[in-house]
Amino acid sequence: MNQKLILDFENKIDCEVPMTMDTIPLSKESSFSQWQQEIPKEYFNLTSEEINYKINTAKKKLGDNVIILGHHYQREDVIKFADQIGDSYALSLYAARNHKTPFIIFCGVHFMAEAADILSSNSQHILLPNLEAGCSLADMANKPDVGSAWNQLTKQFKEKYKIIPITYINSPATLKAFCGENDGIVCTSSNADKVIKWAFEKGDKVFFFPDQHLGRNTSHKLGIKDESIALWDWRKKENKLGGNTITQIEKSKVILWDGFCSVHQRFTISQINQARIQYPKIQIVVHPECSSEVANASDAVGSTAFIADYVSNAPNNSIIGIGTEINLVSRLAKENPNKKVFCLDSVVCPCSTMYRVHPAYLLWILESLLDKKIVNKISVDDDTKKFAKIALERMIEVS
Ligand code: 13P
Repeated sequence: MNQKLILDFENKIDCEVPMTMDTIPLSKESSFSQWQQEIPKEYFNLTSEEINYKINTAKKKLGDNVIILGHHYQREDVIKFADQIGDSYALSLYAARNHKTPFIIFCGVHFMAEAADILSSNSQHILLPNLEAGCSLADMANKPDVGSAWNQLTKQFKEKYKIIPITYINSPATLKAFCGENDGIVCTSSNADKVIKWAFEKGDKVFFFPDQHLGRNTSHKLGIKDESIALWDWRKKENKLGGNTITQIEKSKVILWDGFCSVHQRFTISQINQARIQYPKIQIVVHPECSSEVANASDAVGSTAFIADYVSNAPNNSIIGIGTEINLVSRLAKENPNKKVFCLDSVVCPCSTMYRVHPAYLLWILESLLDKKIVNKISVDDDTKKFAKIALERMIEVS
């Protein structure tokens, strides 16, 4: 997290002035020591102007051989180089449909690049500028833990119920493969409702991982009440049914993994109440990774693309408080100068892993390609790919 950012906005209810995170040389980034160290020294001290010039030059030289995809949460000094900007669903779909461009540079996080590798053709290469750009939510579920939970569930309930596993796209490829192999499916925040409906056409219960909030918010949207939702605590030891009794699981339609996004978990009811007091005409829109209390107190809930459309479609002079990552909120504020757009969280915590895609890394990837070197290629192994693709393609078909 950027310390200066916190201090600048401390004690403010909203961030009226859109923040910009100016490019500072990589070596001066305070958390650089946690980032991918393999980047050659020559990239450490480049200035913003040098980086911009060099990226534009490299992009021109590489022409149609390269496409840069940028997730909405990417920092401003990176997203400006993206050829396609979108939410995680739109960017996966792009990878699934564009089988021409040999090199896809994914400015986003690791699970997004993995999904692109699974959906793209074998002759394409997916490159992630900084291999340390991960997702703490995706890290909350892994194959051994999910496998153990699945064994307990199927051992106990297989005769009575068909359980459909659903993994949020924010998960490792191994979990997508697990779903593909077990009649399950992937979802994103923009299609979770359609995916859960699909699952209930195929089975009696849904096992949803790793984000409990997306699972709960979507279940509520589909009319599933809290009494029919169980929470699976993956920290509990073997054979403890994730802290549930047999009856609790019997009663549940949806079993949620106890995972969460640390950025979206920061949004609270009191922030919403405060914003409504300050601006009685405010509209509140939040991402479904926020808690159900926050989602229920909001006027609209949706993916990053939904939030971007919501703001751009709102009439002039609208006041909109947003519950999602700050880079997107700042961009929307800048792009909509006739509206008051701000982040509900005054501490404006950015997604620290997305932030690790410093433009110097993008430059490194591009210049390596010019030198005929492929760096930071994301390769999912063939076995995992085969089943993960089944689960991702099911999602695309349902969406
Ligand atoms: P979207 O699917 O809305 O782009 O969200 C991705 C994400 O990682 C949110 O934390």
